[in-house]
Amino acid sequence: MSDITSSGINYMARQIVKELVPYASARSSMSGGAVWLNANENALAPAYQLNGTFNRYPSCQPKAVIDAYAAYAGVAPGQVLVSRGADEGIELLIRSFCEPKTDSITICPPTYGMYAISAESNQIAVNRILLLNTEQLDLDGIFATEPKLIFICSPNNPTGDLIPRQQIIAVLEHFKDKALVVVDEAYIEFAPEASVVPLLCHYPHLVVLRTLSKAFGLAGLRCGFTLAAPDIINALKKMIAPYPIAEPVAQIAAQALSASGIAQMQQSVASINQLRNDFITAAAQWPGVQKIWPSNANYVLLQVTDAANCVAALIQDDILIRNQSSQQGLSEVVRVSVGSPAEMQRLITTMQQYFSTAMPDYKNQQKRECS
Ligand SMILES: Cc1ncc(COP(=O)(O)O)c(C=O)c1O
Repeated sequence: MSDITSSGINYMARQIVKELVPYASARSSMSGGAVWLNANENALAPAYQLNGTFNRYPSCQPKAVIDAYAAYAGVAPGQVLVSRGADEGIELLIRSFCEPKTDSITICPPTYGMYAISAESNQIAVNRILLLNTEQLDLDGIFATEPKLIFICSPNNPTGDLIPRQQIIAVLEHFKDKALVVVDEAYIEFAPEASVVPLLCHYPHLVVLRTLSKAFGLAGLRCGFTLAAPDIINALKKMIAPYPIAEPVAQIAAQALSASGIAQMQQSVASINQLRNDFITAAAQWPGVQKIWPSNANYVLLQVTDAANCVAALIQDDILIRNQSSQQGLSEVVRVSVGSPAEMQRLITTMQQYFSTAMPDYKNQQKRECS
């Protein structure tokens, strides 16, 4: 049988596909391990039941899910789109509002990687205006760009910072009638008072992205939401696939958004915030940790002496964390997602040991083992 992995058919792919460097997700770039603290998932996972049969095509925008999310977020159902994760919301916004080879988006690194990947795969240019001191928007820099969409991530991944509301309002004011301002609130349940949803009624060009992947503990479900003026939602509905939300996904999302599902999520958020704060208190004592970013989410960014070595040392104990040092504006940083109480205890013990000993050269040791 011929080897289907190397058929040489790649020459037929679009030039953009040949050139594209795909997103290296936590799941695709690291495998194995027993303790997964590298994808900002929620380890305190709720369990859900499915019922019924699945012989019919599902609704494109299941009413029970739309109504429940609208009630939860405090908006009208006509302001809500449900999609396959917030990632699909990002993609749909770019495909619906940006003209290939003509328009651009503006992003503020270090930030979530999918804005740039989605733009580049749709032949949309990316203006990168670095955060000042990794926490504030560079307003002058942003105002010097002429994008169709501006992506602001708050709490920001990977720093965990909240972008000051006054700065978001300044961006909204500047880009009135010129561009959509997309605020990614994937982690907002960990700091709900900072949500900009109340601004939706003042700014018809504001878009808010949400997800069930983080606080709701449903990353495997692939369910996210775009909140915006009905005109924007209707444009996205023209571009979305006919059946994006599988029936089992709709059933589980509706359960997660019931009163008891929301109460369970809020309990989980309180536990995670406490575990995160305990971890920060412990990490502040370790020599070799140069900086800890204040976190408003379920992860913590740390600057360390040697990030690759730190990640490799934890792998020896089956713990996966993420090296974020390749992000523009950051160097020698690791991002640690908050896990279960037992996982955090194991993480603290291992990191404490790592930072209080001579720190052998784990990364080169690993390379030798692999070669
Ligand atoms: C800031 C941010 N936005 C969006 C997403 C994507 O979320 P979803 O799982 O809903 O596609 C992530 C996932 O890590 C994220 O960190």
